[in-house]
Amino acid sequence: MSRRLYESNLGQSPGNVRGLAYGFGALLVAALACVGVSVSIAQGQRPSTHAPAEPKWKWSENPFSGDAEQIAEGERLYKSTCYICHADHGGRGPDLHKSKLKGTAFLRVVMEGRKGTQMPAWRTKLSEEEAWKILAYIEAGAEETQR
Ligand code: HEC
Repeated sequence: MSRRLYESNLGQSPGNVRGLAYGFGALLVAALACVGVSVSIAQGQRPSTHAPAEPKWKWSENPFSGDAEQIAEGERLYKSTCYICHADHGGRGPDLHKSKLKGTAFLRVVMEGRKGTQMPAWRTKLSEEEAWKILAYIEAGAEETQR
C-alpha cells in the first residue's frame, strides 16, 4: 500500500513540475509581450522630428546598373522629370553626374527632396525602381564622360 502511494506520487510529481514550468514560461512570454508593447507605444508616441525615418529600400545597391534596357528607361524618366532643372550638366539644379551621392543616399534626396531648395520630393510620383533606373542612367552617363 505504502509503496503504491509512493509510486503514484512519483508518477504525479513530474507532471506538477512540468505544470510549474509551463506556468513560468507563460508568465515570461506575457512579461516579454508587455515590454514589447510598451516599447512600441513609447516609440509611437515620441514626437516626430521633421526628418523622416530612413526609408526601407528594396535594394541597397542599384539593381539596374549597366542594364542597357533599364538605363534607356531611366533616360526617358530623367528627361521627363529631372531634365527641366538638372539638364545635361546642370541648370537650376546641379550637374548630377558630378554629384557625390551614391546609391540610397542619392535615392533619399530624390524621394524626400531638399527642404528649403527647389529640389522637390518625388516619393509620390516615382517608384523606387524608377529612381534606381534614373540613377543607373546618370551613372552610365558619368562613365561615358570619363572615357
Ligand atoms: C524644380 C527643379 C528640380 C527638379 C524638377 C529636379 N530637381 Fe533635383 N535638385 C534641384 C535643385 C535646385 C537642387 C539643389 C538643392 C540644394 O541646393 O541642395 C537639386 C538637387 C538634387 C540632388 C542632390 C545633388 C547633390 O549632389 O547634392 C539630386 C540627387 C537630385 N536633385 C536629383 C533629382 C532627380 C533624380 C530628379 C528627377 C526625378 C530631380 N532632381 C528633379 C532642382 C530640381
